[in-house]
This record gives sequence, C-alpha cells and structure tokens, in this order.
Amino acid sequence: MRVAVIGQGYVGLVTAACLGEWGHEVVGIDADAAKMARLQAGQSPIREPGLDELIERHLDDGLLHFSSDIRAVSAAQLVMVAVGTTDADGGWQTGTMRAALNDVVPLVSDDGVLAIRSTLPPEFVRQLPAFVGAIREANGLAPIPVMLNPEFTRESTAVSDFLTPDRVVIGIASDPSGRGLKVMRRLYHEIDAPVVVLKAVDACLAKLASNLFLATKISFANEMAALCDAFGGTVDEVVAAVGLDPRIGPAFLRAGIGFGGSCLPHQVRMVSRMGDALGIQTPLISAVHQVNERQRTQFVDRLREQLGGSLAGRRIALLGLTFKPNTDDLREAPALTIAELMLAEGAEVCAYDPAPGVYARVAAILPGLYFAPSWREALDGADAVGLVTEWPELVALDWEAAAGLMRQRIVVDGRNVLSVARLVDAGFTYVGFGRGVASLEDGVGLAGAAIDHPAPSALRATMLTGARPVAAEQ
Ligand code: UGA
Repeated sequence: MRVAVIGQGYVGLVTAACLGEWGHEVVGIDADAAKMARLQAGQSPIREPGLDELIERHLDDGLLHFSSDIRAVSAAQLVMVAVGTTDADGGWQTGTMRAALNDVVPLVSDDGVLAIRSTLPPEFVRQLPAFVGAIREANGLAPIPVMLNPEFTRESTAVSDFLTPDRVVIGIASDPSGRGLKVMRRLYHEIDAPVVVLKAVDACLAKLASNLFLATKISFANEMAALCDAFGGTVDEVVAAVGLDPRIGPAFLRAGIGFGGSCLPHQVRMVSRMGDALGIQTPLISAVHQVNERQRTQFVDRLREQLGGSLAGRRIALLGLTFKPNTDDLREAPALTIAELMLAEGAEVCAYDPAPGVYARVAAILPGLYFAPSWREALDGADAVGLVTEWPELVALDWEAAAGLMRQRIVVDGRNVLSVARLVDAGFTYVGFGRGVASLEDGVGLAGAAIDHPAPSALRATMLTGARPVAAEQ
C-alpha cells in the first residue's frame, strides 16, 4: 500500500520505517527540509534501537522515501498524521495539527484515507470529522474516511513494539463506506495481535487510559516504597509478591524517582487539568502527579540527609540525564529537575550520560552543571553519587573502582536497580526507595534490603530519618 506519514518526529519516523518493513511503499514528510535531506541520506535525527537499520534497508530497496514536499501525499492511499500536540509548557495544543490538516486534507485523493496517529485531546477528536469535512467541502472535494490509530510504542523499544504489538487500536471518526477500516486492516495485515475497532473518542480515551494506568502503577509502587522505608520493608520483595497476582501483573511497579518522558507526565497533567476545567473530579490522577513530583524532591532529600543536612559546596556525581536508558530524549527527564534542585542548594553537580549529544542540550537549560566525559571523571572526588537513569553500563560499572575514586562513599539509587549487597561490600552507604539505608558495619544482618549478591561480610541497615527502626529491634 502507498502510505504518506506527515511529521517525522519519534512517532512518525518509527511508523514510516516500520511500515516499510511490512512491504508498504512509504513517504515520510516533514516541513524541516534539512532533516528530510539527512534522512534521505540515511541519517536519523533520533536514537532508537533498530531504527537506523530499517531506514537504511528501505531506502536501499526503494520502499522508503523522505520529502519536505507536502504534495507527495496525493499519491498515497493512506495518509497518516503524526505531528506534535504538546506545547512548550507541557500543555495540549492542536494548532500544529489544525495547520497540518489544512495543508494536507485538500491534497488527499478522493479514494484516500486519513488516519491520525498523534495523541489528541478528546475534545478535538469530537470536532475532527467536521473539521476535515469542512476543508474537503471548501475545496470542492469528496469526503474522505477519517480514522484514529493511536500508538502504544515506548521509546527505546519503539521498533519492536510497532512490529510485534500486543494490540492495534483503530478509531472510526467518520467512515460511512467502511473503506477507512478496510485500508487500516490491510495496513496491519502482518500482525499477530488483536485489532480493536472503536469509535474515535473511545480509541482516544483508550490511549490516554493506558498511559494513565501505567503512571498510576508507578506512583502506587512509590507509595508502597514510602511505607517500606517507614517499616523496614523492601519494596522489591513486596511488589514482586503482589505482581504475581495475574489481576495486577509485575510491570511498571519499580519504585524510584518516578516517570518522565514526553507521554506519561504530560497526559497525567493534562487529564487532571481537563477534569478541573470540566468540573469532573479526577483525584486519583491528581494524586499520581503529586506522588511523581515528590519522588524527585525525595531523591535530593536523601542525598542531603546522607551529607549531614546540606548540599552547599558538596560535589555530587549524577549518573544519567535522559528520561530512560537507550534514548537521547530529555523531555521531562527527572534528572533535569533533580540537578536544578541541587544546584539551587549550592551543590557542585557533575553529570555523566552515555547518550551522544545530550550535554549541549542540557547545558542550554542548566548552565551551572558540569559534564564528565566518563563515569570515572564524574565520580572523581565526589561526596556522593546519584543514579538517575539505569543505563546498563552505569548499573554494571565497576563499583569497587568507583568507591576508590570518591571522597565519600554515598550512593542514592534513584531507580532501585543496584545490588545493595555489592554496593555495601564496596564500602558505600546505599540509599534507594523503599529499600532502607544500608551500610557496612560489624555484626548485624541487612534488614529490609534485597540481597541479590552473595552475602557480604557484615551489613547494617538503618531506617530513613523519622522512621521507627522496626527491623533493627527485632
Ligand atoms: C509510554 C508508554 O509506555 C507507551 O505505551 C506509549 O505508547 C508512550 O508512552 C506514548 O504515549 O507515546 P515512554 O514514554 O516511551 O512510553 O516510556 P515508558 O517506558 O512508559 O517509561 C516512562 C517513564 O516511567 C520512564 O521515565 C521510566 O523510567 C518510568 N518508569 C517505568 C518507572 O519509574 N517505573 C517503572 O516501573 C516503569
């Protein structure tokens, strides 16, 4: 099938390249001519595992093209739109979508189909058929089917999520002849997963609900972590037991500094604001947001507490800047808030992140931050280290060598991914989220922290400030 994909950001580019993999003839279109020229030369502007290979393969076999010429849509049987719908303040905006539709809709052929892939506010979904219909009518053109096709791909696994989805959701905004649905089913004929066909507003809400539920699970795990810290529990053990219940499941229950990225924080905030505007109470979603904000502050609180109550003049190594590993995306990355809070308290913060090209972008936002060319340099002479993004190479770094480089051996694990026993054995005082505080001392076993490494010689666990030392008394 001939497909045009308007907007070549994360969502549009992955869509275009993956559709090429299924044998569709795809043109990726974006107003940024320089970006399109680079893509046509095989240079992807984003880092996404597996994407470069797909682009190269389908540029070579001629199934994929990139263009900044919007007129390329007229040859397509399906036109998918994947332009941004967030504004600079993290709000929703439909101006870019409306402008794109004004340009594109008159060019779609009479037997073409329009499908929106961007995440839209429900209010705009309700207006969509009339908006598109009015453009067609004003140009003296026949109506076209208008479909929604929300994406459920995660950054860093977007290619495999696209090619082997758990489900595909198709929303029908306007499709009196059934041609739109037929085309969408043909698009996805390769997949071995349920295709869920809904009315457009339900497809839109299903997309939002998926992200809201994932966010809720994370904030829930973070509340459980707070209880674990208060009572000497270990959140890893608690959620592992809870997640075995098939009604709950184990995914998205990892406690830590909370969720970032362009999707979860934005949609949680937007749905909460939308509820306020409509007079619909959404206390659960508002609480999910509050818990998530609190986690970032708590990361800094933990560091300050371990450093005797002040960060002023302390040198902190910050490991990881991106909102999650295997991406170079910094949107709503918890690291940025955390670094800002620490700089405001007078800390000297030196960051290390393995993603190429992120330092220049972070320096533009946080000019006071230092950047290290390697983790060793970040840790050299540091009073404490905070792990913010669980890049595999950071989790697996030589923590014994790290201990030798630092002025004080304090680690705050913002993702609950480090081996408590290994870090303690290396001489660190370890603080996670819902894992207590663990350090090496004589005679007492590790209470509350997950031992995932041969038992170290001797360990002592202490509770976070203000909590009763339940486990130590037993
Ligand atoms: C999210 C959804 O997972 C996708 O299904 C959806 O398609 C996408 O948004 C979207 O709407 O486009 P993404 O933002 O790429 O994908 O990242 P996630 O893997 O969901 O992670 C989001 C954040 O949650 C990250 O900062 C991650 O570190 C954090 N997280 C995740 C936790 O703090 N704990 C967990 O247990 C899992």
